Amino acid sequence: MSLYIWKKQQRGFLMDQNDDSLYGASEADFFRKRTKSWDKRDLEKFDLMLKYCEGCNRLVDIGCGWGKFLEIASSHVDEVWGVDESVEMTKGVEQNCPSAKVVICRADNLDLPSDYFDIAVTSQLLHEIKLFGMLDELYKSLSEIKRVLAVGGKHLLVDHLDAGDGNVDVFLPPDKANLLQEFESKFEYYQAKHSVMAGDIIRIPRRTLQDFLTKDAYLNSPMESMEMNETHNVFTREETEQYLDAVGLAMQEWTEFTDISHDLMKKGGRFISGKPWMRKFLCVAVKTE
Ligand SMILES: C[S@@+](CC[C@H](N)C(=O)[O-])C[C@H]1O[C@@H](n2cnc3c(N)ncnc32)[C@H](O)[C@@H]1O
Repeated sequence: MSLYIWKKQQRGFLMDQNDDSLYGASEADFFRKRTKSWDKRDLEKFDLMLKYCEGCNRLVDIGCGWGKFLEIASSHVDEVWGVDESVEMTKGVEQNCPSAKVVICRADNLDLPSDYFDIAVTSQLLHEIKLFGMLDELYKSLSEIKRVLAVGGKHLLVDHLDAGDGNVDVFLPPDKANLLQEFESKFEYYQAKHSVMAGDIIRIPRRTLQDFLTKDAYLNSPMESMEMNETHNVFTREETEQYLDAVGLAMQEWTEFTDISHDLMKKGGRFISGKPWMRKFLCVAVKTE
């Protein structure tokens, strides 16, 4: 049994014996249905990524899922390739983006040509590799991304930003406070706990608020087990730069986006004390040699 499968079993997943990818048929089905109702805000990461694709001839999206970004990029880029470890997740790429070449493989062992792409995108892939992969898998994946980029090529890295230490006080309507309690009772990655200050005002760690606001939609769904065993507080800027540095990719730009206060507002809540923050980042890293 590979360490990868062992680690996933340790984290409580029900594994399909013939498929060791994180997303099996039921997770992929849920994910696809959910993303059909994505609004503008859910798609803002793709709009941001597209801005860096000007003049790009060859693009690969690693962890492309059902191919939403491939579809968007294909009207601006000559050649688009999609990579994913999960056959189930890529069902739909053919329909969404008929011109895309799809390769089923893992990010740490890319079945792709060397020195070929102008842009390699990873959107919400690397946190899964960091949290569920083997110890050196993140480094191996970044080394592979560097290998497949042409000199001067760019890695566009979008992922979850760590909200950092500390607490904030927020107002939550009673039904959402009940949902938070359900979330805290099911979340296993760390002990998630808030305290009640007065009435509907609670004190909550920044990281717990971020995990709750971005994971409540997965409660009682086929994705619940996976989501309750990982966090959406993953990378800091310093750490990301170190990872990139270690494989010889140079960080060129860093942008933070997606305001947590909008997630809170969508639940009828608001900040009472403590400053809101951005919960995602886009980093541009260049292969210089
Ligand atoms: C959270 S989804 C992100 C999908 C899409 N990129 C987006 O931004 O919405 C992560 C995707 O990465 C794939 N994936 C996870 N680990 C992988 C690995 N080690 N190698 C290749 N693909 C992987 C999953 O199958 C899934 O399709």
